[in-house]
Amino acid sequence: MSNVAAPATEGPDRADHPLHVAIIMDGNGRWAAARGLPRAEGHRRGVEALRKVVRAASELGILYLTIFSFSAENWSRPATEIGDLFGLLRRFIRNDLATLHRDGVRVRVIGEREGLEPDICALLKEAEDLTRDNNRLNLVVAFNYGSRQEIAHAAQRLAREVADGKRDPSSIDADTLGQYLDAPDIPDPDLIIRTSGEQRLSNFLMWQAAYSELVFVPVHWPDFDKAALEGAIAEYARRERRFGGLAAKTGS
Ligand code: IPE
Ligand code: IPE
Ligand code: MG
Repeated sequence: MSNVAAPATEGPDRADHPLHVAIIMDGNGRWAAARGLPRAEGHRRGVEALRKVVRAASELGILYLTIFSFSAENWSRPATEIGDLFGLLRRFIRNDLATLHRDGVRVRVIGEREGLEPDICALLKEAEDLTRDNNRLNLVVAFNYGSRQEIAHAAQRLAREVADGKRDPSSIDADTLGQYLDAPDIPDPDLIIRTSGEQRLSNFLMWQAAYSELVFVPVHWPDFDKAALEGAIAEYARRERRFGGLAAKTGS
């Protein structure tokens, strides 16, 4: 996810249709609290929404869907909630992997694997390995992910090459650093959606979001559905992306 995707022109790749949509799935806890339910129930309903949105993204011709499922900072939550979230991830992969594979979904995972429980690492690897050759939709799961950590990790790897005498520091530019991020082959997100009304990135894809269009949706994640996704895409289509150039109307 290192390069600004060139604006496309036709078919599902046309300029007003996003190739890569990234979603900050927020508001599960508030959804539950508003109904007098435990937060865990909000997370469970969040997985149901995810299932539907993956299908919708595929139907809408989106090629890359990145979802923020657990942040590097979410470790500061109570252990019981972390346990609930990890349990849901386990169940999601165990229950849904075969269906995702059948539907041509390729699963990718970004974020730090070190320090995760071995069975979680094994499940993530199984999902990536089984679906490696699929190409209908790339589902990028940001799990134990933080953008600052990802960039620091890239810097560390580059610094090691310099220390080993394999690289000249002056060879490092923005494109080089981008190549050392977790999924350098995936184009930057065209559209980043955050549910729940919050308007911040919370350490999500900060490098890759340089020219992403941001759409903030005032519904909690468990209530997000295909119509809401279409609404966000329609908002995206009304935007004019300039990438630092001039507006199309004024000529470029
Ligand atoms: C999103 O919902 C799920 C994760 C962050 C894992 P939240 O749990 O953040 O829900 P709110 O923001 O407290 O409502
Ligand atoms: C961002 O939501 C992380 C995920 C959706 C996984 P948070 O709920 O953790 O973000 P903050 O703390 O409100 O910024
Ligand atoms: Mg939240």
